[in-house]
Amino acid sequence: MDKKIEKIKKEIKCFHIKTYDDLETFRIKFLGKKKGIITILFKELSKIHIHKRKIFGKIINELKKETQNKINIFHYKYKNDDHKNDKDAKFDPTIPGKSVEIGSRHPLSILNNRIIDLFMKIGFTYVDGPEIEDDWHNFTALNIPIFHPSRDMQDTFFLCKNPDILLRTHTSSVQIRYMKKHKPPFRILSIGKVYRNETISSRSNFMFHQAEGFYIDKKVSFSNLKQTIHYLITSLFGKAKIRFRPSYFPFTEPSAEVDIYCNNEWIEIMGCGMVDPQVFKNVNIDAEIYSGFAFGLGIERLALIIYKMKDIRIYFDNDIRFLKQFKSEF
Ligand code: DAH
Repeated sequence: MDKKIEKIKKEIKCFHIKTYDDLETFRIKFLGKKKGIITILFKELSKIHIHKRKIFGKIINELKKETQNKINIFHYKYKNDDHKNDKDAKFDPTIPGKSVEIGSRHPLSILNNRIIDLFMKIGFTYVDGPEIEDDWHNFTALNIPIFHPSRDMQDTFFLCKNPDILLRTHTSSVQIRYMKKHKPPFRILSIGKVYRNETISSRSNFMFHQAEGFYIDKKVSFSNLKQTIHYLITSLFGKAKIRFRPSYFPFTEPSAEVDIYCNNEWIEIMGCGMVDPQVFKNVNIDAEIYSGFAFGLGIERLALIIYKMKDIRIYFDNDIRFLKQFKSEF
């Protein structure tokens, strides 16, 4: 009997299980209900003299354990279905897992989100507009007729095949899109990319971001505009010196530019003014009843001041060492 057990032990040990088919053969050979080697041994146990039965019972149980262990090990290694037919794949639980890298938001996105948050708090609604515009929304409806000199200032990217289509030069086109579809009152904010044919330098790029805001209602005044800009600037900078400088935009009357005092110089950050009655006319809003203010803010300019940078190109270099320094709840 001892020899027989030894032989079975060896057979269990040496059986190569590489596939699920092997496993099944192994299981049937040793533990099969009718003809399994170990199953038969258990059946024979009753025929053995009572004194030896205990010892052999123990030995056979041990064999069964070893068989079961081998089955369990195979299952553990080939847990995933993918490995069913994959003879070489081995799962090694000791290899350290791959950690997930958590990125950070782009500094311009952080600033955009901060601005959106600030305007939501004073009742503005956020809307998006298309970057690919037509001439009417980008220029004509904003009171910039075809030969107006301010078109030159925004020298831009037109589609050669269709000169009516261009990459928007400012987010003011969103004003037109929104006002055409909605009746006042409304308070709207929109942020997005704009494109101009500019020489790339530390302060300018062919693409940059603007935040456009406009508030149209009965009796909206220039002091409402000033108050709103003050709210934005003090929320972003705490105390800061700003000035409203008279300026000209075809779509506002009066118009102003806002400068912020920083490092002994005035830096222009936005254009603004009261929406020109001609613009209201172009979008079928009665200028006798409604008035409103609008502003367009340069995000990169503001970001240079906030993050104390000197060159806007740093925002587009995609240098991970720069970008990963920005952490924010926005
Ligand atoms: N669209 C102007 C620009 O890009 C900025 C601007 C000025 C926007 C006055 C406005 C505004 O909404 O009222 O230069």
